[in-house]
Amino acid sequence: MAKINPDRLLADLSHLRTFGAEGSGVVRLALSAIDIEARHWLAGRMDEAGLDAAIDGVGTVFGRSRQPSPAVVIGSHTDTQPSGGWLDGAMGVIYGLEIARAFAESQRERDLAIDVASWMDEEGTFSSYVGSRVFSGEDPAEAIANARNRDGVTLGEALTRAGFAGRPLARLEHGRHAAYLEAHIEQGGRLESAGKRIGVVSSIVGIRDMRIIFLGQRNHAGTTPMPLRRDAGMALIAFAHRLDEVFRAIAGPETVWTIGRMELDPGSTSVVPGRAEMLLQYRDGDAARLNRLSERLRSLVNETDSAGPVRVSLSPFDAPVAPAEMDAGLQGQIAAAAERHAPGQWIAMPSGAGHDAQIIAPHLPSAMLFVPSIAGISHDFAEDTKEADIALGCQVMADAAASIIRAARG
Ligand code: HGY
Ligand code: MN
Ligand code: MN
Repeated sequence: MAKINPDRLLADLSHLRTFGAEGSGVVRLALSAIDIEARHWLAGRMDEAGLDAAIDGVGTVFGRSRQPSPAVVIGSHTDTQPSGGWLDGAMGVIYGLEIARAFAESQRERDLAIDVASWMDEEGTFSSYVGSRVFSGEDPAEAIANARNRDGVTLGEALTRAGFAGRPLARLEHGRHAAYLEAHIEQGGRLESAGKRIGVVSSIVGIRDMRIIFLGQRNHAGTTPMPLRRDAGMALIAFAHRLDEVFRAIAGPETVWTIGRMELDPGSTSVVPGRAEMLLQYRDGDAARLNRLSERLRSLVNETDSAGPVRVSLSPFDAPVAPAEMDAGLQGQIAAAAERHAPGQWIAMPSGAGHDAQIIAPHLPSAMLFVPSIAGISHDFAEDTKEADIALGCQVMADAAASIIRAARG
């Protein structure tokens, strides 16, 4: 059985952490200069591992094994949230690199093919899951169209500036790829509170991202009597409160909703806000309930708009992401490998976080493995995982990958 090298694994993770380091965390937004630098470094490490590495036309770093088919793709993302942790995404990518190296060094596994990927923009700086969407067959022109970051830079411009635009694309090869595996930190507290070390992911939540705009009338904050105001700011606040009530009434046990951003224009206390905007995200593992939440949101917007005095409009601000089940057979392979290395210390569990695996799953059998997040923290600089858990997760993933390739060979 191929043995992963924990020191080498942790050394690469620590080096990747230096690209955009902020205190104990990382800021490495998709296609920022530091993200591009990290991608070039990763491609170099893939080359050194004996993979044919390339950064593709949407910025995905893909290392293709020279070993014969069937191949397992192991990947995740190296771009981060604005308040990123050092392991979110990065761990799964470096797992793939380390497993490819461990197989190359192993008598029994040296001819097993592991392709390794860092998918572009999982975190949605421009448009969530761009890299895995294009890998899965989406037309890149569609994936790129209308995608822009908070500064208004379009994805197309950013790819051109990076020198990636027009390059060949990393695409799913049905005759070659047998499965997709992704390892990730849990980003929640379930494993830690259960005293378990490995999570075998059963399913991944669906996600909707919506923009709600309120248009009123700017006016003087001192001379405009309350009854005469068309205050977009107060309309937003009242709407948010009402939304919380109506979502609570139809939520399921796993339903979550977050208002992640609010903007009031012009943002002066001496001006009644004429425009207000909120970004709302909601998630659930059940597609039918996600639709009910969307319908209720739409009706609340319509009610509020008709009631006035402020106009209200609703529009998606990122592509909707469907919930996904992980492949049962692959789950069984990961569970068997976990049982070998951490008997009784693993559980099957759903994912409340979104992942590239849910984009790829409808096109290629996919599965995920979690390791615990200390205090369940993620999307924050404090995100961390014990080194022993990081190493264990990689060894379990390596064993599962070897079994999956052998099973695919028949
Ligand atoms: O938000 C998520 O669940 C993922 O980290 N992008
Ligand atoms: Mn994330
Ligand atoms: Mn992630």
